[in-house]
Amino acid sequence: MKYLVCNLKANKLKEDLNLYEKKLKNIIVDSNLELIICPPTPFLYIFQSNNYKLGSQDVSKFGMGSHTGENTAEQLSSLNVKYALVGHSERRGPFKEEESTIIEKIKKAYHSHIHPIYFIGEDRLEKENKETNKILEKQISHIINEVPDYKREKMIIVYEPVWAIGTGEIPTISDISNRVEFIKKIITEYYDLALPVLYGGSVNENNIEELVTVDVLDGFVLGESSQEIKNIQTIYNKIQKNH
Ligand code: PGA
Repeated sequence: MKYLVCNLKANKLKEDLNLYEKKLKNIIVDSNLELIICPPTPFLYIFQSNNYKLGSQDVSKFGMGSHTGENTAEQLSSLNVKYALVGHSERRGPFKEEESTIIEKIKKAYHSHIHPIYFIGEDRLEKENKETNKILEKQISHIINEVPDYKREKMIIVYEPVWAIGTGEIPTISDISNRVEFIKKIITEYYDLALPVLYGGSVNENNIEELVTVDVLDGFVLGESSQEIKNIQTIYNKIQKNH
């Protein structure tokens, strides 16, 4: 199974999203390439057709109860959410989300049968200091060690270098390939698992042609490019053609 995850972030208002969803319903999809849409949380209810799976951009580390402003895994699940983004750098940075918080979120997601999509990746300074592999290893082991064995296989990993988000810059094809191989090697050697690993960060309809040549990848995450349905369809078709 391959994946194409669309992260709409905090973009678009209700009317735009109604229109967006109407077009999304008509995208031609294939059962081997799962299309996952992560709309802004207040508008999850608009996204209820069968053409795609629904993801949330976050999930609370709390369960149901007195937690003002939170969206719990139980509530997201009741809106048909099947996947939740966790560890995105836009949460780790501005919201100071530590790994202990990410672990709580992952546990809550699992409890409601939501699959975590876990983001890892180095920032620009770490890249310049050649610390990428060290960072990736730490981000993987801190999380997976805490997830019960029998649930680990339900996780999707995204290699998303922080410096590539929204910048138009992507790593070289050989760098992506080496990083993804490294991630898969750690997961297999330490945990005896084969988890899907996706790439995210400035993926667009122009660079997808070369990105799909990275055989070890199991899919992609789109931010900016997911705002236009025609871009999603173009990228979707290119991935599908290549696998
Ligand atoms: P981008 O965002 O495609 O706009 O770089 C990706 C992401 O933040 O997941």
